[in-house]
Amino acid sequence: MKRLLEIPADRLPVEGQRVLLRHEEKSVLLFNVAGTFHAIDDSCPHSGASLFAGKLHGTFLQCPAHGLRFNLDEGCPGAMGIKAKAYPINWQGEVCIVDLSES
Ligand code: FES
Repeated sequence: MKRLLEIPADRLPVEGQRVLLRHEEKSVLLFNVAGTFHAIDDSCPHSGASLFAGKLHGTFLQCPAHGLRFNLDEGCPGAMGIKAKAYPINWQGEVCIVDLSES
């Protein structure tokens, strides 16, 4: 079953910023990195800390809890073989649609 989260243009983060979105039980971070959008689960796969306050270094997001880094450009492979959950993004005009369906 498709689970889609639609974000209208007026709720999109401006360049260099992020927003925290909630959809049912999921918390999703939407980043705007130099005009490219990335959506990942807010929960760090290491120990569950929120990634919302993580520092962004280019496309690398550093978890504020223990410092693991996840590359938003490459499906978020991280250190120690763990990955942040990334979600595909599609666009309908200026509406961003994040696909939360499990693969
Ligand atoms: S909870 Fe994110 S690195 Fe440990």
